[in-house]
Amino acid sequence: MEFKELLFKRRSVRSFKQRRLTEDEINYILTAAINAPSACNFQSWHFICVTDPETKERFKSICADWVSAAPAVFVICTDSEKIDERCQDKARSYKFAVQDTALAMQNMLLAAADIGLGGCIIGAYDQEKCVSELNIPEKYLPVALMPIGEPTAETPARSRKSIKEVTTFIGDSPDKADEPREKEPFELRHAWLPNAVFDDLGLPNSTFNNINLSSSKFTDINLSGSSFEDINFAESSFGGLNLSETKYQCVMLNNSEFKNVELKNASFVDCDFSGAAIDGINILDAIEKYNK
Ligand SMILES: Cc1cc2nc3c(=O)[nH]c(=O)nc-3n(C[C@H](O)[C@H](O)[C@H](O)COP(=O)(O)O)c2cc1C
Repeated sequence: MEFKELLFKRRSVRSFKQRRLTEDEINYILTAAINAPSACNFQSWHFICVTDPETKERFKSICADWVSAAPAVFVICTDSEKIDERCQDKARSYKFAVQDTALAMQNMLLAAADIGLGGCIIGAYDQEKCVSELNIPEKYLPVALMPIGEPTAETPARSRKSIKEVTTFIGDSPDKADEPREKEPFELRHAWLPNAVFDDLGLPNSTFNNINLSSSKFTDINLSGSSFEDINFAESSFGGLNLSETKYQCVMLNNSEFKNVELKNASFVDCDFSGAAIDGINILDAIEKYNK
């Protein structure tokens, strides 16, 4: 995969298929980890790769339940022996060790995405419990957890601040710094996602095809210019959406509820609108009003 494609394809994945990871996959991820840069090349990291089902169950008392359902959970630790070796100033050396592990984690996430897998950094976990439940030797201190597996579906991109919002330029600033970064249009096909929740996403010009999204909730999403074909949105709710220039073909919208949506120039072919309403108005009347 091209690096640029990989960079934008990587997403935090939190739902996994139940197949085990192969030895080659685990080796590829760990090879990526150990090839990350590290301060003075001390490589002050240690990785615990948990695939044993019984041990994985213990993550339920350490962090969010879904983590234990991943085929592999990596515990990313610092190595105190390497920290001691590095320099006298322990606080400084520990800071380097954490930076080393962060770079290793990003390499792991990119390597996973490169071979069709996905993972997520978990910073919200009970560190002490993790050490005791997994009998982690004292010299290794967990920094984060990383469940990895084959994703059940594509994960939409989360919105990003623009370059200008997060950068101070001392000198020239690039002309395009105030524009949101260019994104590949999002595509999602053949997925079973009833009761899904989508919030705060920038997905203009996306393609959605053959998906069950019944009883789902969509809030604050830019979907302008997107197309939807063979989608079940029955009983779903939509709030704060930009749906201008969107196209719908064979889409079930029955009993769905729209509030505060922009629908300018939306087109509908063979759609089921029964019981659907926009801001309390019958959807067909509302669409006519929007397109006037
Ligand atoms: C240091 C760090 C800690 C994180 N901790 C968690 C976590 O505890 N639980 C979780 O679901 N996601 C966690 N994430 C994932 C972020 O929520 C995610 O990276 C962010 O929302 C951007 O989405 P993306 O990775 O799909 O681009 C963490 C990410 C980082 C970098």
